[in-house]
Amino acid sequence: MVGLPARGKSYISKKLARYLYWLQFETRVFNAGQTRRRALAPQKGVYPSSDVSLSHPASFFDPDDMDAVKRRENIALQTLEDLLVWLNDESSSVGILDATNSTVQRRLAVLDKIRKTAHPCTELLFLESCCYDWSLLERNIRLKLSGPDYSQQNEESALNDFRKRIVLYEKNYVSMNESAEEEETPYLQLHDVGRRVIANRINGFLSAQATEYLLNFRLHQRQIWITRNGESIDDADGKIGRSSSLSLRGTKFAHALSVFIKQQQQIWEEVKTYNKSRVKAGENKEILTSQEDITRSNFQVWTSIMVQAVETSKFFPEDEYLIRKFRTLNDLHAGQMEGLTFSEILDSHEDQMNLRRQDPVHYRWPGTGGESYADVIHRLRPIIMELERLDDHVLLITHRAVARVLLAYFKELDWDRIADVEVPPGRVFCVEPVSAAELSDEIS
Ligand code: SIN
Repeated sequence: MVGLPARGKSYISKKLARYLYWLQFETRVFNAGQTRRRALAPQKGVYPSSDVSLSHPASFFDPDDMDAVKRRENIALQTLEDLLVWLNDESSSVGILDATNSTVQRRLAVLDKIRKTAHPCTELLFLESCCYDWSLLERNIRLKLSGPDYSQQNEESALNDFRKRIVLYEKNYVSMNESAEEEETPYLQLHDVGRRVIANRINGFLSAQATEYLLNFRLHQRQIWITRNGESIDDADGKIGRSSSLSLRGTKFAHALSVFIKQQQQIWEEVKTYNKSRVKAGENKEILTSQEDITRSNFQVWTSIMVQAVETSKFFPEDEYLIRKFRTLNDLHAGQMEGLTFSEILDSHEDQMNLRRQDPVHYRWPGTGGESYADVIHRLRPIIMELERLDDHVLLITHRAVARVLLAYFKELDWDRIADVEVPPGRVFCVEPVSAAELSDEIS
């Protein structure tokens, strides 16, 4: 990563790591701030500060303090060292160095260390985050105050100190497209988290995946709801995989779902109106407010093309909701087992059930069109892109396996446990992709 403090580097790192991990590339973020906090205990009296409890006051980031510069360089390179050791492991795929790397000199040192240490085929991509939207920057700065450097401080002194830190970083900051020495270096420069993107010399499979993902980034606050279809006639009989009309119980669920979502929309709008009034009155500065948050979101309902999912959407009026159907949201295809119950499969194909138990993520049902969870992950990639790109609220009416895979992405679940994710019928999950918790600096 490259960028001044409060430019959303940690948020971007976390989101990208989550996406690549979901695609089954072992990915880990290495954060230089965390290494600093671990390595350098608070040094009472060493740095001039009115607030002795600040472990690393702004003066620690002064580019004219050569001792501090050296310590910070060592910390960044130590963090990179940890990353490279981890990357050397056979199962590791992507390491993200979450640090400012705001000078050409630092970036050249990073490059040099990677060239000397990493496997010669290692792909490298610098991701620079720039922020020109004042309201976005203010929001990031405010969020930083609840982070590990400042959570023990009173708000005013923390804010003053952090603003000083940013000014000190700005003194020597050189953006990647301003540096002639880096013309040949692969980088992606994001302005205001996706409003404008500059791609330079990007080459390589994982870099292309990361670029495609980051091109679809938005910071609009909204809700994504995920549920299974209402009970179908096949579901009632325990038969898997096929298109089938809703049972009476399923139809009742479909109706209740439309009422529930309508209520939730009203609550969302009321909370937002209340928050805006508090921000206006200066009562709560931490509530997220960027340009995008002022506009109202529309509501989309997405279903698979299977009858039970389409019928579950039938109580959502088309003049209030944009209803869209996607084949990609169809249930995991059970191949030649479609239309059978699990006990019928166990009776006739015990060997298949054993294989499925041994590796539930990669097991693929035999027969034409049969799929595995890993196949479903790959077919859902465009759905994730579209969900990340949209500003609208979305309700996805889909099927158990697909809901599991979507929840694994949004809730950062281990992909080798995808097949165990509990998605009971009748339950509706809600995720908020841009919430204070998501934006905070901490690595979970
Ligand atoms: C930090 O210590 O918080 C960031 C270190 C850096 O990369 O400048």
